[in-house]
Order: sequence, then structure tokens, then C-alpha cells
Amino acid sequence: MSAGDVRIGQPAATLETPALVIDVDALERNIAQMAAYARKHRLRLRPHAKTHKCSAIAKLQADAGAVGVCVQKVSEAEALVAAGVPDIFITNEVVDPVKLRRVAELAGRVRLGIAVDSGLGVLGLANALRDVGTMVDVFVEIDVGQGRCGIAPVAAGALAHQVVSNGLRLAGLQAYHGRAQHLRAPAEREAAIHHAVRVARAAQASISAAGLVCPLVTGAGTGTFIHEAESGLYGELQAGSYVFMDRDYADNEPASTSPRFEHALFVKAQVMSRGVAHAVIDAGHKSHALDSGPPRVWQRHLDYQNGGDEHGILRIRAGAPAESLPDLGAAVWLVPGHCDPTVNLHDRYVVVRGGLDDGVVEAVWPIEARGCVQ
Ligand SMILES: Cc1ncc(COP(=O)(O)O)c(C=O)c1O
Repeated sequence: MSAGDVRIGQPAATLETPALVIDVDALERNIAQMAAYARKHRLRLRPHAKTHKCSAIAKLQADAGAVGVCVQKVSEAEALVAAGVPDIFITNEVVDPVKLRRVAELAGRVRLGIAVDSGLGVLGLANALRDVGTMVDVFVEIDVGQGRCGIAPVAAGALAHQVVSNGLRLAGLQAYHGRAQHLRAPAEREAAIHHAVRVARAAQASISAAGLVCPLVTGAGTGTFIHEAESGLYGELQAGSYVFMDRDYADNEPASTSPRFEHALFVKAQVMSRGVAHAVIDAGHKSHALDSGPPRVWQRHLDYQNGGDEHGILRIRAGAPAESLPDLGAAVWLVPGHCDPTVNLHDRYVVVRGGLDDGVVEAVWPIEARGCVQ
């Protein structure tokens, strides 16, 4: 779709397909709900912008009380800074001197944080910051159960000491447990975060034993944030997907004490071909990511099967009550299986107010950090 083919005030029903659409009423409720939760628990909220990659949404989150956003990539930070986002934490390790120079330069423009999990990373960061004459908040990342980045808790004190002795600002511990987010049962997620909290406490003790203060423990995602919040240890929440709620998150069995979030991100598609027992829509994995499974067909008892880059195949779900296949030309709304990589496939959001069926286009928001992989 070219940039000019969507009009403000246009009925959502007439949008060309495939289109990445935000139900802005639902988005606003999600943002308000998480902001209220963080306020009630006296926690800082720094939502992860790897979900939306968009300065307009970062601004809505900041207006609701967020202290800033997180990103994963230096180029995501650069894109959001260029779009006016003033406070960013790169929750990831960077060791390439060329990228570290970009980090140091960015730190001259906004408040910036970054994670480290190696002496090499600390030295490279210190060199780049010294050359450019800037400073960042440095978070020592610990592995709280994912088995990805992060050091063992006993090593936290030594690395924190290296941070400080290289003249850097020790801002705290990065303690995010990614694998816990989509454990389906609430008790499993709770147990995983209890483990993360034990690990983070041990890391804090290691930092204290090194004679240093750990100002903040930060982490948490949409699947587990209630447990980090209740731990009394975490001071900042990084949940991101709550703004959109993809199908994979909706498949989690909710915890009874958790706020509920609504689907706010959709791909509008159209039936372009009909068989006797299937309908073909114009949205394949060029329009939405399949890494976390298929999208849900919104408010229909239809199953989605991947039909390739540009096609999706819909069939009536076995045993579905009184369902019929949509007609040729009919609109179908998909709830993406995984929001972050789906967003990465599009240049912009079409922002609809008043519901998907009867609403109208209120805005078009660029996805500035789309494609920022470096
Ligand atoms: C470091 C970090 N923090 C927070 C999040 C946000 O998690 P979610 O989108 O599941 O809410 C992510 C997501 O991958 C992450 O990598």
C-alpha cells in the first residue's frame, strides 16, 4: 500500500487489504490498565518498544506515566530517538566497537541505558564513551532462567566492579526471564519468576559484597509482570506485548490476579478465492509472522492454515456451531500469532477508532523502528 491510499475519516470497512490496523480504543485501555497497575504498585514502567517500534505509541505510554521505553537494537534506539523519544534502555549486549561508538553518540542526545554481560563489553563501552565524552546507565544482565544472555549471579559483583572502575554509571541489574512469558499455566509462570527472584537476590548480594549499591532491578514481560511486581525486588517493569496482545499471549491461561488486556492489533484481509470447503485470503506470512503459530480469525470459528507468502487458507473449525465460510470479497480480521515480528513487516499502522466493523481511520502512524535489525 502506498502512503496516500488511506484517508483520515475513512471507514475501516473500506480499507484496502492486507492492512495492519490498530483498534485504538483497545490500545488506549491496555496502556491505561498497565500504567494504573504500575502506579498502584509504586513501580517504574518502561515498556518494551520492540513490540510496537513506534514513537506515537511510546508517547501515549509516556503520557500515561512510563519513564521511557526499552529496545533491543542500537538501530531501534536511533530510529526512536530521531522520532523524538527521550529516554531509552537498550536491554541487550553490544560488543562491536562500531556499534558502541553509535551508542556513545546517541547518549549525547538522550538519556540512554544499556545491558552488559562481559568484561569485553564493559571495556568497549568505556572506550567509546570516553572517546565521545558521554555517559550511559549500565545494567549488569544476569541469567535468571532463560539460558540466553546474562551472567551467573555470583559473578555480578565482579562485573559491577569493572563497570564502576572503568568510570561508568552502574544503574542496576537486568533480570528478564523470556522463557517464562508463555508458560501456559499461571503456577508455572509464578514458579519460574520465583526462581528469577532468587537469582536476582543472589546477584544483588554479590554486588553488595563487592562494596557497591545496586540501584534498580529491572525486567518482566506481559506473561509474568504480576510476579516481578509482587516480589518486592523489581523496581521497574519492561512488559511490551500488553499494548497489542497477540494470539500466543491470549493462549496463556490468565492468572486470577492479573489485569486483562484486549487484542488491539489486527491484520485486515479479504477473501480472494473460494473453494467448496475453503476460502483463500490475501494475507500470508508476508503480512503476519507465523513463528508463534497461526493467527486467530477474529470472532469466527475458522481455522487459518498457511498458504504461503501471500495466501491464507480458511476452513470451518471441526464441530463449530453454525459457521459458514466467508464470501468472496468479504473482510476477515486476523489476530496475529506474534505481534513483534508482524509489526516488523509493515511500514505503518492504520489507527481505527470506533471498532473494526463500524469505526473510522483516526490516524496513520509510521513504524519508525521497523526493519532495524542492527
Ligand atoms: C529484555 C526484554 N524485556 C521485556 C520484554 C517484553 O516482553 P513481552 O513483549 O512479552 O511483554 C522482552 C520481550 O522479548 C524482552 O526481550
